[in-house]
Amino acid sequence: MIVDVHLRPEDLDDKLREDARRGLTSEPKYLSPTWLYDARGSELFVEITRLPEYYPTRTEFALLRQHAADFADSVRPEMLVELGSGASEKTRVLLDALVPYLRTYVPQDVSEPALRSAVTRLSAEYPALSVHGVVGDFTDSLAHLPSGGTRAIAFLGGTIGNLVPADRAEFLTGTAGILRPGEWLLLGAGLVTDLDALLAAYDDAAGVTAEFDRNVLRVLNDRLGADFDPDRFVHRAVWDAENEWIEMRLEATEAMDVRIPGLDLEISFGEGEQIRTEISAKFRLAGLRQELADAGFVVRHEWVDPEARFVLLAAERR
Ligand code: SAH
Ligand code: TRP
Repeated sequence: MIVDVHLRPEDLDDKLREDARRGLTSEPKYLSPTWLYDARGSELFVEITRLPEYYPTRTEFALLRQHAADFADSVRPEMLVELGSGASEKTRVLLDALVPYLRTYVPQDVSEPALRSAVTRLSAEYPALSVHGVVGDFTDSLAHLPSGGTRAIAFLGGTIGNLVPADRAEFLTGTAGILRPGEWLLLGAGLVTDLDALLAAYDDAAGVTAEFDRNVLRVLNDRLGADFDPDRFVHRAVWDAENEWIEMRLEATEAMDVRIPGLDLEISFGEGEQIRTEISAKFRLAGLRQELADAGFVVRHEWVDPEARFVLLAAERR
């Protein structure tokens, strides 16, 4: 069992400072979704995946159960790299199907606590497999990933939708760039579906998503000494019909000033002013196929659930 740290807490703090300064002094204000995932944020996300309203995890799980064997037969990888692996819960279905071929599993995530606990658990459950965790940022450190044997990369959970289109194109091209022809990408993505289901998935009745969203303010308090009062922000999930993405926002319930000593900065909020904390783009099959082709992949399998809410794509590097 190995955990490589390509992103030390100091590096992460540098990135956070840069990102928070840029985003919170912009008009409108925004933050990168990466900061949602500290130890507490990663736990809250696991809670989200168990909510009745949050259909993506269940749906992708079912698709994996149905099609993991087909994927294994087509791909036969010796190494599975998973980007943004989180708790690696769904991955077990893949690992079980890939057992005849697989020697190494490489979960990669920016959240060191989530990654370490996944690595510990999976190493115990799959003693024949070498589990090699990597703490890193999938938007910039793909070149440092371990190599050896035929690789497949999995990127599940619809996390691809959390990247804005330009970053998404860069990410897909970068992913293709580290694969050799004949190696594969397994991509899980949310599809455009009915608005009620979408909005409920990102704003659940029990308020777990709201708590998860507000947690980013606690991260800023912990890491930058800020004095955000999370109770004075409410969570909003808004569908942007033009871009076909959900926007997660935190809205100030009243006007206030917030001090951020770690940035030597004071920012003000008007009543009702929002910070965009995340986008979650939903896709159409033709568009996704095209984006993958543009990046250098050929889509070989498209597995969609009966309600057409989620797709698992298996794409081969050309
Ligand atoms: N794959 C899991 C988790 C999805 S949530 C699932 O399908 O359930 C998104 C995951 O991406 C979180 O674990 C988060 O910590 C991670 N993440 C977010 N930004 C990241 C980045 N820039 N680099 C690497 N991991 C990131
Ligand atoms: N990758 C997840 C998604 O887009 C992340 C997520 C789920 C999320 N619920 C959220 C991010 C709420 C911010 C707020 O589905």
